[in-house]
Amino acid sequence: MSHRIRKPVLAGNWKMNKGPGDATAFFAAFLNAYRRDENRTVMFFPPALSLAAAQAAIAERGDIMLGVQNIHWEENGAFTGEISAAIAAQANATCVLAGHSERRHIFGETDEEVGRKCAAALAAGLTPIACAGETLEQREAGQLSEILLRQLDAVMDAIPDDADDRLVVAYEPVWAIGTGVNATPADAAEAHGVLRARLAERYGRRQAGAIPILYGGSVKPGNAADLLAADGVDGLLVGGASLEPLAFAKIASA
Ligand code: 13P
Repeated sequence: MSHRIRKPVLAGNWKMNKGPGDATAFFAAFLNAYRRDENRTVMFFPPALSLAAAQAAIAERGDIMLGVQNIHWEENGAFTGEISAAIAAQANATCVLAGHSERRHIFGETDEEVGRKCAAALAAGLTPIACAGETLEQREAGQLSEILLRQLDAVMDAIPDDADDRLVVAYEPVWAIGTGVNATPADAAEAHGVLRARLAERYGRRQAGAIPILYGGSVKPGNAADLLAADGVDGLLVGGASLEPLAFAKIASA
């Protein structure tokens, strides 16, 4: 199954927040506050154990996609504590975050592992959202492009050449995540331009233009519209503010 996404994507990453009961309560409030808009795609990444509750809560809403925050690259086997793309797909997830900076920095995920996860996701019919972003140190050392391209190349090298129509990319500068300091629209436009140019080298300009690149890092109701309007920004990946139904309803409508 293919999940080609062409509309702006407004995604909420709940990280390690909200159990099944919390998810049910969240959607009761969110669905009330967010008016369906066929011109955008709303996505949530709840903890895997809350996926079923989220699915039950949004059963009637074709405009909302649900995914998981991480997978292992193997299909099954002796990997205690892990879930595979096949398991996520069987549980009706349609998308998966890969290489979120917290996975890279707290859990030591490497570029190569992120690539393998994206490949596993695609093989199972899931849309991978491949995350890339530089630390403050790297940015200050003038390494923005180098870091982003290294992370993106590892993903493109690992996935089939014709998988570009199911790939989503997220630019999440590490210094902007959970800090209250968002990238400016100009910062986001610059980084998205770097990523888009590399996608174009690999897949051609037209195909690259159709790959959504989301911005993430301290997105709030007050800055969402400006960030979404920035050049090359096709959507937003939201952490903290996606935990609040009313705040995220505002962002999803930005
Ligand atoms: P915050 O929106 O809390 O900065 O988190 C961003 C993020 O990591 C989304 O994946």
